Amino acid sequence: MKKVITAMKASVKSIPGMQDLIPPQTTKWQGVEARARALFRCYNFEEIRTPLLEETQLFQRGIGEETGVVQKEMYTFLDRGGDSVTLRPEGTASVVRALIQHHFEQRDALVKLFYLGPMFRYERPQKGRLRQFHQIGCELLGSGAPQADVEVMALLDHLVRAVGVKDFRLEVNSLGRRALRQNYLQALVTYLQRYQSDMGAEDQRRLTNNPLRVLDSKDPGLAQIIAGAPVMLDSLSSEDRTHWDSVLLGLNDFKIPHVVNPRIVRGLDYYEQTAFELVSDQLGAQDAFAGGGRYNGLVQDLGGPEMPGVGFAIGVERLLLLVSDQAFQPKSTAFFICSVGDRARREAYRLVQQCRTHELVAETGFEERSIKSQLRRAHKLGFRLVGILGEDELIQGVIQLKDFVRGREERVPLAELTETLAKRLQDE
Ligand code: HAM
Repeated sequence: MKKVITAMKASVKSIPGMQDLIPPQTTKWQGVEARARALFRCYNFEEIRTPLLEETQLFQRGIGEETGVVQKEMYTFLDRGGDSVTLRPEGTASVVRALIQHHFEQRDALVKLFYLGPMFRYERPQKGRLRQFHQIGCELLGSGAPQADVEVMALLDHLVRAVGVKDFRLEVNSLGRRALRQNYLQALVTYLQRYQSDMGAEDQRRLTNNPLRVLDSKDPGLAQIIAGAPVMLDSLSSEDRTHWDSVLLGLNDFKIPHVVNPRIVRGLDYYEQTAFELVSDQLGAQDAFAGGGRYNGLVQDLGGPEMPGVGFAIGVERLLLLVSDQAFQPKSTAFFICSVGDRARREAYRLVQQCRTHELVAETGFEERSIKSQLRRAHKLGFRLVGILGEDELIQGVIQLKDFVRGREERVPLAELTETLAKRLQDE
């Protein structure tokens, strides 16, 4: 036989750090998203969906010019009209932009919104660190009350436990109000200036422009210096101290386990007062799988009214590293028809369609195959119920029904198939 050699065309791969979500992973994702939606509902949050692309200045103004995200991690480009646009690196700035644009403050004093979706950061990909990743997040705006911080952290804790994650820590800190940080910043700058010569150009610039940002420098050479720096928690104003004490009291009232970590600074400029992260020792270097905090000035920074806010975002990929693969796999409820012969196959198509119109999950094959191979396929694909239809069954107007879970076999009149399937699937 002559061999025909056809040249294989080069295949196209996804961009590094941008993953396909494929089955059965997608089932786990859907499970986690469904739990999140249900809990957001309980806490009275409503969904918001904002565009993936925004004007670049939204993030420059919202997140802060000196942050690592804005300086190095944004997917920013000129669109065909010559405008600078950016793929959203996070959700909070976009939500606040939308809230101002649609005058949410006129609807009610309190605005509670949640979102799910992809975010983009040009980081070096590694386990738990992607360039397109997903967040489940929420924002509560219109209250500066400490109990609002507690509610948001309670929701976060509830959500993470609801998807089966137990081995994590809620770490909390207070960064004080921006307007009341002067004394602390002074002390920080005095301390950091001693080590100025150890700093790279970038951190030296931050020291002048935005000293808090030196504290989340990624320069390993500064780690020890940063570990010895004064912390905000030691210089809180009395107003911030009162807020902080109430937050801790609220967490205790709700019996939410937490630890105070005065080293949390968060990587985004908008935070004031409460800042928190969820960390897990199972995650290695990228140990924070959620983060959030209070932002009192962001709405005004973006041109809106005075409206304090607090929120969080969970990194879904990191969260899912902590969720067992067995979680959220649905019990098989599906029905597969194996048929022999053309007439039976046509009847199988009709029956499958009939099942689907009754919203039962049903499938059959398109090609002629032996019963044995059809049965093997149905079993492999995890179908619970299998119908066998041949010439004899057609004549008698019945189908042989096998239940792989119960190990039961029966002959069911074709006219009663959908009701029988529905009953069998109910009695687990
Ligand atoms: P963030 O800490 O920058 O906060 O991100 C939240 C979570 O997103 C992180 O804890 C992490 O799990 C995940 N994440 C961030 N970057 C990556 C990445 N490159 N790959 C995988 N996962 C990543 C925010 O984004 C704030 N908007 C949260 C917030 C809402 N604060 C107030 N409201």
